[in-house]
Amino acid sequence: MDYILIGGKSLTKQMIKEHSDGNILADGIIRVNNLSDTKDIFSHEVYKIDVESNIDYLSITNAIKKIIDSSCLFKIKCFIHGSNSFNKNSIGYNSRDIEVNAGKILENAGFKVNLENPSVTIIVNVINNKSYITKISGNYLVHEKNYINRAGFKLIEAFDYFKIDVEGLHIKKALDIGAAPGGFSYEMAKKGIFVDAIDPGLLDSKLIDVHINHIKKRIEDFSTNTIYDIITNDMNVFPLESAKIILKLKENLRTRGIVIMTIKCINKKSYSYYMKQALMELKDSFEGFEFKHLPHNRAELTMLCIKK
Ligand SMILES: C[S@@+](CC[C@H](N)C(=O)[O-])C[C@H]1O[C@@H](n2cnc3c(N)ncnc32)[C@H](O)[C@@H]1O
Repeated sequence: MDYILIGGKSLTKQMIKEHSDGNILADGIIRVNNLSDTKDIFSHEVYKIDVESNIDYLSITNAIKKIIDSSCLFKIKCFIHGSNSFNKNSIGYNSRDIEVNAGKILENAGFKVNLENPSVTIIVNVINNKSYITKISGNYLVHEKNYINRAGFKLIEAFDYFKIDVEGLHIKKALDIGAAPGGFSYEMAKKGIFVDAIDPGLLDSKLIDVHINHIKKRIEDFSTNTIYDIITNDMNVFPLESAKIILKLKENLRTRGIVIMTIKCINKKSYSYYMKQALMELKDSFEGFEFKHLPHNRAELTMLCIKK
């Protein structure tokens, strides 16, 4: 089974390093035929290739017909990627044109479109003159627009990627370090978690939420007897300093409690250096380390670990 992996354009080198069998399809996009042999850190999206085709509407619809049946309710979502010379201007139509025209052809052939509540989403990734088509069940790519900042998205993505089940893991109380302006805190509050938000800076004025308790201090000046279920740390300090602060707070985290920490790197080349530094500092007290460059991470990685 082949997959396409999509990351930031500047992550191509790191992605290809992780996947020895990878072929570069475009900047930030590689094709691999095995995902099981590696813990992927740098890709942001992974699509199984169910079928491939040329990029004209008819070829795309004929390919889609091979993977859906007339009883399903489908929607098509298309993305065009490529080199500077391959884009919507060079091919003469855009991703929306593909979604609408392929959808119409399929509807005329008896297939049923449902944009609001589809049972199947068809993702068409058009990459340098070829379409890679993936069938995903349900309504894929539904985003909430109500957010504070980019950091909020990082937290949503971390919970999603690391499969953190708030109810199943009984996550009720969080310590959010480096919390201002409040994206992380807000996303956790929305999940019903009570958050102690530590930052000398101000939280966004929208954040008047009973779930959020802003403690306007540096973390070094904070002490408590509270035991938290999760500690998040997005402070803009060096990773070793950040890890040392987590280590100091370990008595305030319950056993099997979760840490999500941003590893802020100087540049993209230093990812593995800082990853190792944080790991070495925390490995005696924590386990289950995972690192991921999430779509809303810049020159940084997000780390998950669990208290032993
Ligand atoms: C990238 S911002 C955090 C964004 C935040 N996570 C959000 O979701 O909106 C980094 C924050 O770390 C805070 N910070 C830096 N050093 C700190 C320290 N020693 N104690 C507490 N907060 C600190 C800064 O004041 C800044 O607001």
